Amino acid sequence: MAIERTLSIIKPDATTRNLTGKINAKFEDAGLRIVAQKRIQLTKAQAGEFYKVHAERPFYDELTTFMASAPVVVQVLEGESAIAKNREVMGATNPADAAPGTIRAEFAESVGENSVHGSDAPETAKEEIAYFFSGLELVG
Ligand code: CDP
Ligand code: MG
Repeated sequence: MAIERTLSIIKPDATTRNLTGKINAKFEDAGLRIVAQKRIQLTKAQAGEFYKVHAERPFYDELTTFMASAPVVVQVLEGESAIAKNREVMGATNPADAAPGTIRAEFAESVGENSVHGSDAPETAKEEIAYFFSGLELVG
């Protein structure tokens, strides 16, 4: 076990429904610390670059249009095994499969509009954090 950092995004379906506080309470209750945070509106091109690993998937166009449709909150969560812990608190990608009490079980509207993003591995966490934050913006 080690202290890790991971990228979290509160997606447009959640920011528009005023769920930022309720979602972040779940992260904080799980022992994750928000060490960087900003509310921004992505362009479709910026969303496309962020999700480029999915460029060939059938949902890519819909996903990037959705991510640019309203503000998002991008943030860095820090804690013991933060990458896995964040994904545990988020729940499965499809809210129909998400465990009770998880963010996606409680708040997600569909497999696409599923309220939160979380990095899936140490390498992607590092890349995704660097996409949105400079070292100076990670304040602990
Ligand atoms: O976000 P997560 O890592 O759980 O899932 P992913 O497989 O990396 O997919 C990224 C995002 O694409 C999901 O969170 C959904 O918003 C979207 N997606 C979708 O719209 N339809 C799918 N069948 C799978 C994913
Ligand atoms: Mg993913």
